[in-house]
Amino acid sequence: MDRDPWGDTVTVDFDEGIAWVSLNRPRKRNAMNPALNDEMVRVLDQLESDDRCQVLVLTGAGEAFSAGMDLKEYFRDVEATGSIAAQMRVRRASAQWQWKRLAYFGKPTIAMVNGWCFGGAFTPLVACDLAIADERAQFGLSEVNWGIPPGGVVTKALAATIGQRDALYYIMTGETFDGAHAARMRLVNEAVPAERLRERTRELALRLAALNPVVLHTAKVGYKFAAEMTWSQAEDYLYAKLDQSRALDPENGREQGLNQFLDDKSYRPGLGAFDRSK
Ligand code: COA
Repeated sequence: MDRDPWGDTVTVDFDEGIAWVSLNRPRKRNAMNPALNDEMVRVLDQLESDDRCQVLVLTGAGEAFSAGMDLKEYFRDVEATGSIAAQMRVRRASAQWQWKRLAYFGKPTIAMVNGWCFGGAFTPLVACDLAIADERAQFGLSEVNWGIPPGGVVTKALAATIGQRDALYYIMTGETFDGAHAARMRLVNEAVPAERLRERTRELALRLAALNPVVLHTAKVGYKFAAEMTWSQAEDYLYAKLDQSRALDPENGREQGLNQFLDDKSYRPGLGAFDRSK
């Protein structure tokens, strides 16, 4: 396994086309401070053009995924400067990686929730395309306990994934819930025992890494933008995405697939995955 030297707050390990990106402030339960946010912007920039990364897995070092925004360094210390510009700058970096870059990242992304996941951590969790959690990981929208409503786009991220009753229940009570319940609410795709977490995530990542990357990217971005469009706009946009995908795809996957199905009769989608090696 390859590890690149980054700054102090993030590590990236490369293995079999998977970039394992770990938020790395374990002693602070990976709370996201301005330094970590800045570093994650750089990490995402670089991984987008790094061939060792075909699929990105976002996780946390130690016992937490992330305890949310750093209450001292992100809130109190920045407010103490009295500088609006400083506050705008840290908010911008935070939004930049946590959803603007991550949600539309050029490669598939999986959040692997290995432990505590609080407040602001819901944003990168939902921005990742898929999510697998330790069934005993603890989630919480603890903001009400701090006398604040969930800020940034945490509330929007919830609205994009779980139903209103569950969202408002946890936003308004601040109660915690575990990974198994997160899977039942569809906040994550699956919850598995801790000892299976990495293997199951790896299995899913390898499955995605074997598929056509251009098609996966246009498919996921198409889904995310279409969700916010009218039906007419979505139809026009998704046809444009389809044409874009064909124009950009160096493998010419669509024609290969049609040939394998119609002419060679070597592939039936209902019975298994398309073979890119043929
Ligand atoms: N911001 C800043 N520091 C944080 C933090 C956060 N969101 N979450 C944890 N830390 C720090 C603690 O202050 C402590 O620092 P210290 O060792 O210098 O005292 C260290 O991380 C370890 O935290 P601790 O509470 O001792 O760990 P724990 O394993 O007993 O509990 C949590 C873990 C996540 C349950 C607990 O730290 C917690 O409730 N954190 C706040 C989560 C939160 O409300 N986040 C939303 C922010 S909007």
